[in-house]
Amino acid sequence: MTLILAHRGFSAAFPENTMRAFVEAESNGADGLELDVQMTKDGELVVIHDEKVDRTTDGKGFVKDLSAKDIRKLDASMQKLTTKESIPFLKEVFDWLAGNKLVCNVELKNGKVPYPELEEKVIALVKDYGLEERIILSSFNHYSIVHATTIAPEIETAPLLAEGLYMPWVYAKAIRAKGYHPHYLSARDELVKQAIAENIKVRPYTVNKQSEMVRLMNIGCHAIITDKPDHALQIRMDLG
Ligand code: G3P
Ligand code: CA
Repeated sequence: MTLILAHRGFSAAFPENTMRAFVEAESNGADGLELDVQMTKDGELVVIHDEKVDRTTDGKGFVKDLSAKDIRKLDASMQKLTTKESIPFLKEVFDWLAGNKLVCNVELKNGKVPYPELEEKVIALVKDYGLEERIILSSFNHYSIVHATTIAPEIETAPLLAEGLYMPWVYAKAIRAKGYHPHYLSARDELVKQAIAENIKVRPYTVNKQSEMVRLMNIGCHAIITDKPDHALQIRMDLG
């Protein structure tokens, strides 16, 4: 069965990367979440997609230049809610995960800002919460993936691939990743099938079109990452 991972939570209907979006993802049938992690100037892990807070909050500036206290004051509801939504700290999400069974794909957002010891901090938190079996670490920064795999081989890792790659399963194995997360347009049927045959998990992103959901479920992707977990669940039920 193809798992449904809610991209930044149920972000089609709720403000992305907020607790509200994560809770709504679960209640709308997602098997798991995808979320993005950056780091404050005082070393706190926060769940936000961009390096800057400008697009998704009422604040301004780089996450790396703000303290955890500064971050806590911001509103991330993006005019989609009447109530304030904070940028979550990663440990708040893990507190909540401790009470359910969701899978969580943590994307390390260290492709532009080189956050010191981001991998060590995320991995320490995963271990504190005993979530090793339910976390997948991904990143567009493949050096970070290799580093994470080296220091915590028990936690699954997956490189993100924005472009097509020749034999991505060979690449995944070469960097000791158990899977890879391709853009859905480069997840061609024959490549996904070959990767699965090679025991490599494929979780394409960001799959919001019905036809693509059907295609990727039918060829046996391990998961899809989608803004619309409710649609994906309906399609999975229709496919039986
Ligand atoms: O993890 C899949 C996807 O989230 C990667 O792209 O820009 O949405 O973080 P982005
Ligand atoms: Ca992401």
